[in-house]
This record gives sequence, structure tokens and C-alpha cells, in this order.
Amino acid sequence: MIVLIGFMGAGKTTVGQLLAGRLGLPFADADIVIADRAGIPVPQIFAERGEPAFRELEQETIASLLTGPRLVLALGGGAVEHEQTRRILKAAEHTIYLHVRYEAALDRVGGDDGRPMLRRPDLAEVYRRRLVSYSDVATLTIDTEGRAPELVCTDIVRHLAGSPAAR
Ligand code: S3P
Repeated sequence: MIVLIGFMGAGKTTVGQLLAGRLGLPFADADIVIADRAGIPVPQIFAERGEPAFRELEQETIASLLTGPRLVLALGGGAVEHEQTRRILKAAEHTIYLHVRYEAALDRVGGDDGRPMLRRPDLAEVYRRRLVSYSDVATLTIDTEGRAPELVCTDIVRHLAGSPAAR
């Protein structure tokens, strides 16, 4: 399993799709699977059921995806907020943290209605808190600053080629 984590706007979905293509593995975006399971889009889950309910659904979805066939999996930026998710990420084969500075993240996603977390007045604090969790669970950290997704993907492929046989 190759899991991509990082804040909103880090490029997890873009890099994940490229990476899956390069490795010949399927790609999944946890948010899309969550929305499929819930039968409503992610912003609607936040609006109608609240963030804690979304986090539970997110945790269950990630846990089940990680016990399925090998794939490249992009997680939502807040997945690491859940203790159980942090635990399974630490046990995963490769958990790759795509680092993006707060200001760069906002530049990339700013004004996106599909991201309810952008309305949080304490978003900078949320970002700081998550940095600790991302670093804690990651087996590899990659800086995405000013770098094209193809280059980020190449860095990951190189790292994977040099790491021990897949579990
Ligand atoms: C969230 C990030 C989103 C999505 C949801 C919550 C967060 O995913 O899971 O809106 O808490 O940071 P992306 O990181 O793919 O935008």
C-alpha cells in the first residue's frame, strides 16, 4: 500500500494518479469512496452530519481500503486527526507526506467551495497541529514547494525503488 497524506492543496490526488500510473497500481481517493458510501458529497456530509461524523466515516473507509488489494491511496488532509487512522498509517507499507506551506496551500485551494474546512477561522492552528501528525506517521516526507507533480512523483518512485520488498 502506498498512502499519500498532507494538507489540502498538497497535490495528493494529482501526484497519486501519476504515481499509480507509473507503478501500474490502481488509484483511490478516500474522499470519493467516502462520498460513494454515504451517497452524498463530502461538503454535504459536513453540513448535514457534522465533522465528527465525517471523521468516523473517513476512518472506517481508510481502514477497509487498507485491508483490500494493493493500491495508491490519497487521503483527505484531516485523516490524521483520527487516532485510529494514525495507528494504521504507522503500520502501512509506505505513508508518504507531501509537504506544502500553509500560504501555498491556501493559494492552491483558495475559494474552493468543495472544502468545508476552508471556512474554519482556526485553520492556521489546524494546519500547525496536523504537521506534527503528518511527520509522525510518514515513512517519507517530500517537499512540494515550487515543484511540478511529475517531479514529486519521480522522487517517490526513486524512493520506492530503493526500499525493501513490498509487504
Ligand atoms: C479535509 C480535506 C479534504 C476532505 C474534507 C476535509 C480536511 O480533502 O477530506 O473536505 O479536513 O483537511 P483534501 O485534503 O483532499 O482537500
